[in-house]
Amino acid sequence: MSLLVIGSTGTLGRQVVRKALDEGFQVKCFVRNFRKAAFLKEWGAELIYGDLKVLQTIPVTLYGITAIIDASTARVSDFYTANRIDLDSKKILIKAAKLAKIKRYIFFSIFDARNYSNIPLMNLKVRVEEELINSDLDYTIFSLCGFFQGLISQYALPILDQQSVWTTKESTSIPYIDTQDVAKFAIRSLSIQATKNRTFILAGKDSWTSFEIIELCEKLSGQKSRISTIPIFTLQFMRKFTKFFQWSWNISERLAFTNMLIEKQSFDISMDEVYSIFHINASEINSLENYLEEYFSRILKKMKELSEQNKNISYIDNF
Ligand SMILES: NC(=O)c1ccc[n+]([C@@H]2O[C@H](COP(=O)([O-])OP(=O)(O)OC[C@H]3O[C@@H](n4cnc5c(N)ncnc54)[C@H](OP(=O)(O)O)[C@@H]3O)[C@@H](O)[C@H]2O)c1
Repeated sequence: MSLLVIGSTGTLGRQVVRKALDEGFQVKCFVRNFRKAAFLKEWGAELIYGDLKVLQTIPVTLYGITAIIDASTARVSDFYTANRIDLDSKKILIKAAKLAKIKRYIFFSIFDARNYSNIPLMNLKVRVEEELINSDLDYTIFSLCGFFQGLISQYALPILDQQSVWTTKESTSIPYIDTQDVAKFAIRSLSIQATKNRTFILAGKDSWTSFEIIELCEKLSGQKSRISTIPIFTLQFMRKFTKFFQWSWNISERLAFTNMLIEKQSFDISMDEVYSIFHINASEINSLENYLEEYFSRILKKMKELSEQNKNISYIDNF
């Protein structure tokens, strides 16, 4: 089976490529920057040029493809609105996939998007889900809450760097998940008929508030954090302000997620049925404690090695 992975340089997309290659799939990666994607080629994937904002580049990338795994989303740093990537290009992708007789289309949405259609990115996700459901294509949609990997830049790095960790007082408990586990479900779905034309919520083992994550990072790193709380109304003001400028529309759309904090979202999700359909045992799913423990032990070991090297260099300098 030949897969086209879109968004393959991203946090989730690269794990999907890794898992697919490990499982023996032929993998083509739809990329807009070959240099940035060189590591995927080293892993054994084929690179094909495509840019989601240049719609004409899409159809040719589907030649010889059996299934599409779309893990793309607009980058906050890109100078255009998310609509172009997260809606317009997806509509074209879905049309082209139908013409190319693609056998399965895998899409990643956001948990509970239908209840938050006032949040622009959630609204785009719902519209693509509907487009896919009404397309006659065989699809599988995964609704996700948040990734372990995102917590590194948000909490672990600032704590290690003794920088401020920004959070709000209104901290929702979120069942973050490892992208390696999401990739496992996505690739497994290709060989399980019961996952066809269905939507699955993928949640991690436990839910975590930002204060609990900070406490865990402090314990594992042995460092005390400097917490700075930002009032919700400041985020709301920033959202309105960033909406004025085209260069900051993507930032404004991300800040719209503060609405979820005000409404105190609840994520009480049982994964038992999903594990059973995908023949995955709960023990195969990574926990946040384990993920962060591995991260900090690796980083602290590296820091110790560097400090030893610097000590040796200064001994040589002084010799
Ligand atoms: N992150 C989360 O916590 C979270 C939560 C729920 C759902 N999701 C969903 O999960 C999926 C993966 O998210 P992620 O966080 O892994 O994304 P990410 O790290 O931000 O990666 C985005 C990917 O999309 C690609 N992309 C963006 N614009 C493009 C364009 N014009 N042409 C071609 N490729 C383009 C990027 O390529 P470049 O490297 O070239 O920029 C990158 O590979 C998305 O559908 C997202 O909405 C994520």
